[in-house]
Amino acid sequence: MKLVLASKNPKKLIELNEILSSLGVEVCSEADAGVDVEVEETGTTFEENSLLKAKAVMEASGLPAVADDSGLCVDALNGAPGVYSARYGGPGLDDTGRYRLLLENLRGQGRTARFVSVVTCCFPKGDVISARGECPGMIAFAPMGEGGFGYDPVFLIPSLKKTFAQLSAEEKNAISHRGKALAAFAEKLAAYLNDHQE
Ligand code: IMP
Repeated sequence: MKLVLASKNPKKLIELNEILSSLGVEVCSEADAGVDVEVEETGTTFEENSLLKAKAVMEASGLPAVADDSGLCVDALNGAPGVYSARYGGPGLDDTGRYRLLLENLRGQGRTARFVSVVTCCFPKGDVISARGECPGMIAFAPMGEGGFGYDPVFLIPSLKKTFAQLSAEEKNAISHRGKALAAFAEKLAAYLNDHQE
C-alpha cells in the first residue's frame, strides 16, 4: 500500500519509511503524489491539526495520507506553547528566540513539561487511524547541547541528566514523543491492514 506524507520535510519521509517498510507500506512525498497542499493549522489540539493536514492531502491526492503534529506542553503555562510551539512569541523569533522566551516566562515557576506528538492517517473510504506519543521531562534553567532542533536544548530528561539536544538521534528516537507515536501508529496500521485485506 502507498501512503502520502502530508509534510515537506524529507527527514520525516525517511523516518516513516524506515518504520513502515516492514508492513509492506511505501510512504511517498506530496511531490511524488503530484500534490502541493498548504494547510492552515487552525485546530486547538494536536489531534485536530494532524487530521486537518492528513485529510487535505488525502482529498487532493485520492490516496491514503498521513500527517503528524507535535509540540511542547509546559504545566506551569497551562499546556502552552502546545499547538502553537512553532509560532510561540510571534513570527520574529527563531528556535533560539523561542526557547529563550520560554525560559523568561518560566522564571520562578514549576518546570515540568511534556512533548506530545500525534500521527493521523486518513483513508479515502473515510477511515481514520490516529496515535499519540508523549515524552515527559523538565525545562532546564539554561540551554545545553548542540543537537536536535526547536526546544531540544532546554528539554531535560531528568533520569539521563541530559537535554534532548545532548542525545544522539537514536537515543532521542527511543524515548521521544514522535518515536512513541510512530511506534503506536505502526501497530495500529498493521492491525488495520490485517482487518482490511481484500
Ligand atoms: P511540527 O509538528 O513538526 O510542526 O512541530 C511543531 C513545533 O514543536 C516545532 O516547530 C518545534 O518548535 C516543536 N517541537 C516538536 N517536536 C520537537 C522536538 O522533538 N524537539 C524540539 N522541538 C520540537
